[in-house]
Amino acid sequence: MRFSGKRAVVTGGASGIGRATALRLVEEGAEVWIGDIDEAGGEDVAATSNGRIHFLRTDVMKVEDIAALMAAADAAGGLDVVFNNAGAGGSRDPIEEISAEDWDRTQALLLRSVAMGIRYAAPLMIARGGGAIVNTASIAALQTGAAPTAYSVAKAGVLHLTTMAAADLSRYNIRVNAVCPGFITTNIFTAALSIDGEKRAMANDMIRGIATHAQPLQRAGKAEDIAAAVAYLASDDASFVTGTHITVDGGMTIGPRHSWDAEAPSLFSALQQFAS
Ligand code: NAI
Repeated sequence: MRFSGKRAVVTGGASGIGRATALRLVEEGAEVWIGDIDEAGGEDVAATSNGRIHFLRTDVMKVEDIAALMAAADAAGGLDVVFNNAGAGGSRDPIEEISAEDWDRTQALLLRSVAMGIRYAAPLMIARGGGAIVNTASIAALQTGAAPTAYSVAKAGVLHLTTMAAADLSRYNIRVNAVCPGFITTNIFTAALSIDGEKRAMANDMIRGIATHAQPLQRAGKAEDIAAAVAYLASDDASFVTGTHITVDGGMTIGPRHSWDAEAPSLFSALQQFAS
């Protein structure tokens, strides 16, 4: 019960990583305010929590919505924890084609939203003597090949924003950390596709199949894997941890595929064939 008597905000809490984290925080004693544009999903999560999760329709592209979400949790007794997590894939256009408008929209959704989440949480946390903020970055912040350019650059920005905010806010006893998920089976991959229920279910099955073999640990990454890391970073167990990130990716960023997959072609396996 690491969050007993504490109040937390989770953006993107209607689905996937945000939903799993809201449920985990509640399981450990917190009262949680989730903000999302998905009203049906948000109400659904709130309905399963015995009144411990409150849903507020929140578009993280809108600063006033973010401020209202933070204020709602604070008004109930003080804001202790914020998980800036809402997001989507953003523009898939390559750098030689992307428009300035699509670039800006992706940065606003994935990076400005986190900056404004910190901006509007910090004064409330300063007033009560401290708090913990966790931001969702991605392994796409660390390397190429995981996501489109605009998304990856925004997530790299989230990582540096995390260190800058940690430095600025440490004097107020506010810790700021990030989590870098690998390939996690959530709705994010099909959310932007206009496909119906059955086709969507088929696409999600296909994604789960790919996810099982996408990294050294041979199982699909789950939203609960990320929730566990976020709960740690947000808890007093991490009271001496700030300005850093935890990568939760089943080993995906360990190294090239041939370093962990004996079936993958490599220079070494090719030379071995010549030698034998
Ligand atoms: P998801 O699609 O299951 O959940 C994302 C939630 O954010 C949805 O409920 C959606 O309605 C909400 N959202 C989207 N735009 C919003 C807006 N403007 N305002 C408020 N809410 C909004 O996806 P998932 O995977 O749980 O994504 C959560 C975070 O994790 C995102 O920041 C994503 O970029 C990040 N991430 C996900 C990975 C994965 O493999 N699933 C890998 C690395 C990072």
